[in-house]
Amino acid sequence: MTTEAPQFSGAALAEYRAILGRYPERRAALLPTLWLAQREFGWLSPPVLEYVAQLMELPLAWVTATASFYTMYWKQPPGRWHLQVCRTLPCALRGAEGIRAAVEERLGIRSGEKTADGRFSLEEVECLASCDTAPVLQVNNTEYHESLTVERTLALIDRLAST
Ligand code: FES
Repeated sequence: MTTEAPQFSGAALAEYRAILGRYPERRAALLPTLWLAQREFGWLSPPVLEYVAQLMELPLAWVTATASFYTMYWKQPPGRWHLQVCRTLPCALRGAEGIRAAVEERLGIRSGEKTADGRFSLEEVECLASCDTAPVLQVNNTEYHESLTVERTLALIDRLAST
């Protein structure tokens, strides 16, 4: 079995060129390019990181280290619904640990794991920049759920599970 090397679509390449044009040097465009790659390929596998490094003419170690540092970049395939529970102090003081524990119990997984059916994955992350509405949970890097309670969190999981 052969696996094709990742490659941006024409539209993604055009977007990449537009990103490059916004930065004084190539290296500075790495974060948005990784974001684009994640959107294009679903997650940042080692071949995707190699592709980005080649495309940007940057050292692979630099690209890999950058992707590893930020939780918003997925280094393994996420579930259909990827839940990120903030654990930083403001959220922690307002019950984030209870939110995480409730999610873990409901889904039968721990932080960093994915359900056997691939529907849900869970990750604890640092501040999601919405501290005034703590505790916060983000779905699929795009959808915020704020001022959560355990009850509302479980209702959210039920709603996602039914879709
Ligand atoms: S501490 Fe949770 S969003 Fe900032």
